Amino acid sequence: MAVMDKPTAPPSLDYLRIPAMPASVFVAPLRKPAGLSDDWLEPAQRKYGPEEHRIWDELYQRQIGLMPGHACRGFLLGLERLNLGRGGVPDFSEISEELRSLTGWSVVPVPMLIPDHVFYYHLANRRFPAGNFIRSRQQFDYIQEPDVFHDVFGHVPLLTDPIFASYMEAYGRAGWKALKYNRLKALSALYWYTVEFGLILEDDQLRIYGAGILSGPTETVFSLEGRSPNRIHLNVDRVMRTDYTISDLQATYFVIESFRELFHLTEQRGFEPIYESLAPAFQYAKTAALDTDHIYHRGTQEYELRGGRGSGAKPV
Ligand SMILES: [Fe+2]
Repeated sequence: MAVMDKPTAPPSLDYLRIPAMPASVFVAPLRKPAGLSDDWLEPAQRKYGPEEHRIWDELYQRQIGLMPGHACRGFLLGLERLNLGRGGVPDFSEISEELRSLTGWSVVPVPMLIPDHVFYYHLANRRFPAGNFIRSRQQFDYIQEPDVFHDVFGHVPLLTDPIFASYMEAYGRAGWKALKYNRLKALSALYWYTVEFGLILEDDQLRIYGAGILSGPTETVFSLEGRSPNRIHLNVDRVMRTDYTISDLQATYFVIESFRELFHLTEQRGFEPIYESLAPAFQYAKTAALDTDHIYHRGTQEYELRGGRGSGAKPV
């Protein structure tokens, strides 16, 4: 019997089990590598070769210099606490030990992108699934699949922040409800515009907390300083209805005032009313700035209009 049909445990609250996927819910057709169980976890972190450790060190060096003045305070503090620049790809068990003592999170190895419902299951249990592989030198500047650099450098530092750590767990739990209402796409948009590409106001200055931005140099500058993208205050109902770009710089960034605000707007408010009110197929364009938005910067969208990545457009 599917978990969601069990009469004894309310299905939406059984976070210790992988949520059953209703047949009506579309998921990306990811093929699980042989030998892995349903949680998609690999038995251990990979042993990286010297060239792979060098790639980490070079990515780290390139990125770390850009962090002051761009990354938010919690991220900078987390980087320091976890000492991710100690040389080579960090050891998951060492950073997990440190993380566990701070917020109860750990980092676990997965072979590739994993299905949404399995991802939610791990987040709901304070485990962050990190790609076990590192990009090659040919992919140094851009890789679409989340590798160990994106996952560990980009995501793990903020898991040291108690409020952000709670948001991530709440986000995982929200996955159960999203499945129930078939609103995975809406929840993914929220993740995209917060955890991956979120901006935060600190002393009236915009700073970055999104991992998708902080793990690459171009978007670190573009998101804060570019004239092309919109910067709009986060409204969860609006964001969940917004389309997004997967393999290019974002056309719009959403801004929060604090992690407390983010937590309040999502977990404390509850997701069910939003899912119930969302029309199944409606989305705002990713470039839209609406009359109802609180707009910090109305982007020119020139990067997007000139064709973005691959067209030679400058990320301005
Ligand atoms: Fe990510």
